[in-house]
Amino acid sequence: MSLEEKSDMGVSQGVPPQLVEEILRHADANLSASLDRFFQFLRIPSISCDALYAPQCREAASWIADELSGIGFEASVKSTIGNPIVIAHSKDANGPHVLFYGHYDVQPAEPLEAWNADPFEPSLKEQPDGDTHIVARGASDDKGQLLTFIEACRSWKAVTGHLPIKVSMFFEGEEESGSPSMEAFLDESGEELTADVMLLCDTYLWRDTVPAITVMFRGIMEEEIEISCATRDLHSGAYGNAARNPIQVLADLIASLRGANGEVTIDGFYDDIERIDDQIIADLANLDFDADAFLSNVGLSRSAGDTAYSVIEQIWTRPSCEINGISGGYYGDGFKTIIPSTALAKISFRLVAGQDPERIQSKFRDHIRARTPADCKVKFAGFGGSPASLISSRSEYLGCARAALKQEWDCEPVLIGSGGSIPIVSVVKRRLGLESLPIGFARSDNRHHSPNEKYDLSSFHKGIRSWIRILAELSRCTPVQPPSFAGDDSGADQA
Ligand code: BES
Ligand code: MN
Ligand code: MN
Repeated sequence: MSLEEKSDMGVSQGVPPQLVEEILRHADANLSASLDRFFQFLRIPSISCDALYAPQCREAASWIADELSGIGFEASVKSTIGNPIVIAHSKDANGPHVLFYGHYDVQPAEPLEAWNADPFEPSLKEQPDGDTHIVARGASDDKGQLLTFIEACRSWKAVTGHLPIKVSMFFEGEEESGSPSMEAFLDESGEELTADVMLLCDTYLWRDTVPAITVMFRGIMEEEIEISCATRDLHSGAYGNAARNPIQVLADLIASLRGANGEVTIDGFYDDIERIDDQIIADLANLDFDADAFLSNVGLSRSAGDTAYSVIEQIWTRPSCEINGISGGYYGDGFKTIIPSTALAKISFRLVAGQDPERIQSKFRDHIRARTPADCKVKFAGFGGSPASLISSRSEYLGCARAALKQEWDCEPVLIGSGGSIPIVSVVKRRLGLESLPIGFARSDNRHHSPNEKYDLSSFHKGIRSWIRILAELSRCTPVQPPSFAGDDSGADQA
């Protein structure tokens, strides 16, 4: 059955199930070609935090744009002050208009010696349980995930020649570096990104066999602090006791950030937090989250967080403060008996609804300045931040996506939170008024940002199948914005 016959039946009745089955069969039959494209993409080392890889980031952007042009999108690579952004529009004009977002940049692969193979030469590793791992940097975060959506569109186009709704896409290459070029890009090209809802594929499943829609993201605020004391490194015998040691000062400052129960001790840190809906807290308590397994999977046995909260609350609904790195002094072989002149730490805060990154930054700086002793200078370097996001679980789009996921996974999808941050979610809400619908197929053991990152072949395959069904179900939704053909009498079926 063609889409034209389907549209005679009225958009609100959705796509005939036999047609969806045909598209799914097409995706199944072409999985190995999808996998070949996935491998090509993984071979491009598009690391965003290191400017040396800017050419590879451009290559990854062009690769996506070429793939999208190849399946009939109008795709372009837009320059920014940093890595380029890819924008693409389908020529289909029916139903709601979705904007799909993904990031083609990846984290650095270091430490390279911890990988079992070259991080940019993807390998297939068959598992005893019958699944296959695709091992490479970016396999799961976010190259494999974003490709599930593109490959779903490819199957739709191959079988019907169309997509059932209007689809635009955009891909950035700086997500892993805090998206420094995004605001300026939106000032210039934001109007090209108008849509009814934004879809993303950069989150986790709830269980290997249970899909999830993520409705809560923590925000983030990152700071680097440098403490310096004497004008140069000193002989620790000649100056020991008399000279202030910046590593000791830094250690004391860091120790002052958390109390005995794991609570953050910065004055006013928790002041602006919005009360979480009782229903959300009740829903979290009902999730079958195994805190002991969560910890023991990474060799831990006891949560270090505030005991007034469950572990799932600690990671999803409570803010945190983490020391990401610390350096200073001598750490080569043997000993060098010095009092170093400087010490540095990278500290990030995960934020929850109500906490403003700039206000948290100034409270943090006040806390540090008030405790910095005489003869010490402190230098701060901010790396920006983004607030937390809450997504309404009542939207029509979310309902349609839920129904589609249920068809594919044979169980009710779960609404979950995320301890991680996807800054674009709050940016598009604030600037374009767009709600997000984040659906991902990563498993909890995908080793995001770690050595031997992997994506499961079943995540890739079922991800493609899920998006095929979601596109079909979304065609039942009412467009939020008037479609471009409003006024034309064919608009009569917008019930
Ligand atoms: N995909 C992650 C975000 C994520 C993590 C979603 C866990 C769901 C669960 C994303 O690529 C990421 O790593 N974001 C960074 C953002 C930061 C660099 C501004 C993060 O959370 O650290
Ligand atoms: Mn990601
Ligand atoms: Mn990431």
